[in-house]
This record gives sequence, C-alpha cells and structure tokens, in this order.
Amino acid sequence: MKTKVLLVGSGAREHAIADALIAGGSELYAYMQLLNPGIKRIAKTFTVGKADDVAAAVKFAKENGVEIAVIGPEAPLAAGIVDELEKAGIKCVGPTRQLAQLETSKGFTRNLMQKYGIEGLPRFRIFTKKNAAADYLKELGSYVVKPDGLTGGKGVKVSGEHLSSNDEALDYCNEILNSHNAVVVEEKLDGEEFSLQTLTDGNGGFIHFPAVQDHKRAFDGDTGPNTGGMGSYSDSNFLLPFLTAEDVEQAKKITEKVAAALKKETRTSYKGIMYGGFMKTAAGIKLLEYNARFGDPEAMNVLPLLKTNFVEVCEATAEGKLSGLKVEFENKATVCKYVVPEGYPDNPVIGKIEVPSVEKDCIKALVYYAAVEEKADGVYTTKSRGVAFVGIADTISAAEKIAEEAASMVKGGVFHRKDIGTWQLVQKRVEHVKRLTGKTTLKLLYTPKSEPMKVAAFMSGSGSNLRRILELQQQLKQQGKELFKVVMIFTDTADEKICNAKKIAAEYKVAYYCNDIREYYAKLGYSDKKDMKIRQQYDAETAKLLRMHKADIVALCGYMSIITKPVIGSFLTVNVHPADLRIKDESGGRKYAGCMGSECIKKAMINGEKEARSTTHIVTENVDQGQVLLVSKPVRLDITNIRSSNEEELDKIAHEYQEKLKEQGDWKVYPETIKMLAEGRLAADEKGTIYADEEARQNGLEMG
Ligand code: AMP
Ligand code: GLY
Repeated sequence: MKTKVLLVGSGAREHAIADALIAGGSELYAYMQLLNPGIKRIAKTFTVGKADDVAAAVKFAKENGVEIAVIGPEAPLAAGIVDELEKAGIKCVGPTRQLAQLETSKGFTRNLMQKYGIEGLPRFRIFTKKNAAADYLKELGSYVVKPDGLTGGKGVKVSGEHLSSNDEALDYCNEILNSHNAVVVEEKLDGEEFSLQTLTDGNGGFIHFPAVQDHKRAFDGDTGPNTGGMGSYSDSNFLLPFLTAEDVEQAKKITEKVAAALKKETRTSYKGIMYGGFMKTAAGIKLLEYNARFGDPEAMNVLPLLKTNFVEVCEATAEGKLSGLKVEFENKATVCKYVVPEGYPDNPVIGKIEVPSVEKDCIKALVYYAAVEEKADGVYTTKSRGVAFVGIADTISAAEKIAEEAASMVKGGVFHRKDIGTWQLVQKRVEHVKRLTGKTTLKLLYTPKSEPMKVAAFMSGSGSNLRRILELQQQLKQQGKELFKVVMIFTDTADEKICNAKKIAAEYKVAYYCNDIREYYAKLGYSDKKDMKIRQQYDAETAKLLRMHKADIVALCGYMSIITKPVIGSFLTVNVHPADLRIKDESGGRKYAGCMGSECIKKAMINGEKEARSTTHIVTENVDQGQVLLVSKPVRLDITNIRSSNEEELDKIAHEYQEKLKEQGDWKVYPETIKMLAEGRLAADEKGTIYADEEARQNGLEMG
C-alpha cells in the first residue's frame, strides 16, 4: 500500500517536495493555490484553493484519507493548518500555529533565544509604542528595522540602503506600528548570509540539510530590488566556499538549542523544518531569522540530493523518530536559477513562455515550475517567479553551466541571473568573508574625496591617449560627475615637432611643464641618459611640481623615460601598454614587457598570437612589471600569411593593427582605468593582488 500524502502549496519548492515524495513511493494529494503543472502531472488528485483556507485543505485531506501532510509555505502554518490536521488524526510535517511563531514573530524568536541564553543574536530591542525607538536608533547608528510579523521578506529596511536618516527610520517604525503590534530594531551586521535547513521531530532528532546560499537581489552583481530569491547554490561537501565546518557546526548548534528551548517553553513538539537564515560575520555566526518551512529556492538544492527515502523521513519526523533514521545525501554541488517575468518584482509583465524539457531539448537540469498558469495553448507567467532549473554536478561551476544552459533556453518575456553560481560571484563571497575576518585587508589605490581626483599626465609624443582621457573628463563634467581632472601636463622633450604636450595643454587650459631630459643630462656633462642617480634627481624636480599641483596620480601617456622612486614612490603611477601584459614567457616573465608601439604587435604576430589587447598597469621600477589593472577587448590578428611577408610588409601590417588596437584597446581601457580609480573601485590587498569592485582580479579586469 502506498502512503497517502497531502502536499500543501504550489510553488517550485512544493514541486521539488512532490518529486521527493513520489520518488519515495507515496501517493500524492495536492492542495494548491495555483495549479502547478509539474505537481498536477504527478499527483493522484489535486484541488485548488486559497493557501490559508485551512478548512478547505483539511476537508480535501479527509475526503482522500491521507495519512500524513507536508506543508510547503508559511501562510497555512500561520493560519493553524497543522492544529486542524492533527485534530483530524493526520500526522504533519510542519509546526502548529503556536510553534510557527518561530517564523511569524521575530519578537517571539528573539525573546526565546535571549531567555534561554542562546548565542548568535544581533543586538536588538522590540518596541510597541510609537517614537519609543528614537534613542535606540541613535545608539545603534547602523540598524535594521523589521516588522514583527509575516511580511513576505519585504518589510525589512536597512540603514544606509532603505533608510537614510534616524528620522526616516523612526517614521518607518511608527508606520509599522499602525499595522503590527511590535517592531524589531537590531544592529546591522556585515557578512555573508547562508541558509541552514533542519528537519526536527520535536524529540531531539535532527536532519541538517547541506548549507545553501540564496540570492535576494533581482539583477546580476547583486543589484536591483529584493525578490523572493533568484537562485541558490550548494557545494559537494555540504559547506559553502566561504564557510568552515566549524561555522556550519555552530549554526547547527544554535538551531538545536532553539528547538530544545521551544520544547521547554511550549511543552509541545516542533515537527518540521527550522530554516535558519544565518550570517557569517567577523564576530562569528549570527542568526537573522527562522522560517518554519523549507526555503524557496533552497529546497530545490537539497531535496534532489537526498538518498534516503523522503517519505520515511517525513514519517519519522511526524512520529518523533528521526534519531533512529540514517539519512544520506549525494556529495554533489547544486545550482538553482529562477526564470522570472520581465519587470519582476516591481512591475512583472505576464506572458506566454516556452520551457525547455529534458525529453525534447536534452537539458541536463531539473525543472521545477513555480507561479505559472497552464492554459490550453501553453504555459503563462504570473506576477511571481516562473520556473526554476537545478544543475547538479561535482563542482559548483559545472552545476552552474547546467542550470544556465536550461535557464537561457526559456523563450518569452523573462529574465534570470546569469551570475549565480559562477566562479566570479562565489569568489566575491569568499573575498568578502576574508576581508571581514581580517584575513585580507583591501586598500583602495585611490580613495575618492569630495573634489575630483587630480591627474598629472606625462607624455613625450602625440598624446592620443591623453586626449581620450581629457575627452572623458569633459563628458563626465557635462553629466555633472566631475570624477577626475587633469591638473598638469609634463613632458621630457622640448621638441614640439614630436611632442604635442604644449598644444594639448593650451587647448584644455592645463598647466604645462617641460624639462628636456637630454638637455638636463647635457648640462650636467653626461652624454647618455642612463645614469639612474641623475634620473632620480630629475624626477625629484618633477615630484615638486606634482606636489605643487596636489596631484593624486600620475598617468603616463606615451612617456619615453623610465621613472624612478621620487615619483613612483610618492604618487600612484599608471600606464597603458599596447600588448597583453598577462601573457607569460617560458621563464614565467612577461612576454611583452618592454616593447613599444607596433613592435609589440609585430612580436605578437611572429609568436603566433591570434589576438592583441591593451593593458593598463601600475608602474613600478621594473619596466612593465607592475600589476595589471584593466585589459581591453581583443583585436583579432590574422597571421595566416605572415610567414611569406617580408620585414617591410610585416611592419606595415603591424602598424595597421596598432592603429586598430589604439582605437579599440588603449583609448577604451585607459580612460576607463582612470575613471575606475577616481570612483574608488580599484584596490589591492597586502599581497598586491588587484581588486576591481571588491573582486580579486589576479590578472586584471577584462573589459566586457
Ligand atoms: P529577515 O527577514 O530577517 O531575514 O531579513 C531580510 C533580509 O534583510 C536578510 O536576508 C538580510 O539580507 C537583511 N538583514 C536582516 N537582518 C539583518 C541584520 N541584522 N544585519 C544586516 N542585514 C540584515
Ligand atoms: N529563500 C528565501 C525564503 O525561502 O524565504
């Protein structure tokens, strides 16, 4: 006889639960708010009704003689569905209404943890009277304001993000008190969030699922409004790349203590999911919230990995017998990506979509339907998340590719986050935690001030790169964003036939200085320019000019002299190089360091490189050895005929390519580098690794 199971809920989370229940050999009875096409296909019977219509769900359960119920979302829990089902003799995976306060009342959970001395809470206070929070807001300085009640994740406001002053925060507290009994004000923490979902039987038995990280922001790079969750990932060792085993142990310990405290406090058994929203901070593992249900999308990461029969797991949970059950997960990484309607979450546009399938399109991802509507002519989105795809593989990156492939095949007015689960984004999390825990400290290459960054330009030739920098400067000024300003132009040659410095300075009304280096050496009785002591003396004079103009950085724009300590020791100095400085030779050195102009391209072509790029870099005492900052897009090199070319032809081709690389490489990458510096977006750690937008870029940032 198959176990008859009631499943309440109709999202992708419930679709994943339904799959696990079917795989466990049960007969599925689905009570859904929206007709989920995935659940509909595998359910024995289903009905549609409001999520919190407890009476309707219980009636459906009784009519079908179900033995056990699994509750997906929070709304029916908050409405007391478990209390009613248990009265009808139906076992439940899900807490009673009283115990569901773990999720429905942040105040309840905080007070409970405080009363039982459970570690991990941010500093907090709960207010029930208007204006009472004023002093506490001032005291905390940076804080988070949360309504005490269910808000669908939307009511939480954070200082500096949604709240720009204490007055605004107090207004928001007062506004909350119009519709809620209490408001929670707590310290704002900095760290990386993760979800630990735990099944508990209210009898000391626990199953901790693999840790998962969700992504709340709508758009790539964690930008845009908060959503229900755009996707999530988990790792094959059940930790996350920024978490240690001890971190996860600590989170488990907190949840187990909270479960024990719930039992003591209420003398009833919490049977169901305790989903902890934790944060790894510099001060250890902190608890932000509990949910009384599986996470959506987090359920989709962990349930497909469960090797143990899920129906048995549910029965053991409901019967208080989890301790006796050995539960196993597959050691695989997972990435889940949600495809959502365009405009989601603020102004979702409903429309027809085509969803790829394993059968027709050979996708390797699991497909979970969420809030979609199946009509006669196909599947339509609604106002919420549409379809989720889950990739499962040995590594997060491999799982990401599987999920991404499927998500990008959905046709219709939809979008998804391409970055979830990618190495770059995961690495960003790792770096964030490293910095917080003091393992890495970042120093901005230039720290923005209230006035524009002052740039001193050094040049010896035509100055075409400087022109592009000046053009960007003007463009930004017109947009009201005066990020940087070229305050002086310096040249080492008085020969105005080869050097445009004076002309450009006059054109842009910038201070101009010339100190002809040949004359300088000649005056001192040297015939060549090699003596470094003299060079340092020369640079010391230049440095005086830089100080006079309060220059923040030096930008070399076709400057033909080597620069020495008096300048580079005191001023961040950057340069653009018409070659890909990242490419290494056999001995690990930079293959294209030291070469100039079209020589770089010629060398690249002879070496058989298929493309050329420009790189910007920090200038150090060793020519072209400083860290790479930005890397331009490539210029393709056609090298098929170069073997038959003579020297002269080769020079000509190289020259043409160089012109192209100037336009598509140097002139793009150099102004952008100056801009990013001025915006404080470039930094280095103590080992000298460059970071762009807080992301480690061992090899420079490639321009997209
Ligand atoms: P909650 O509903 O409590 O999980 O809050 C929703 C979101 O607000 C969390 O996922 C966090 O991103 C953010 N948040 C909540 N509490 C804090 C806190 N104490 N410090 C920083 N961010 C928080
Ligand atoms: N993953 C967010 C939630 O389920 O609440």
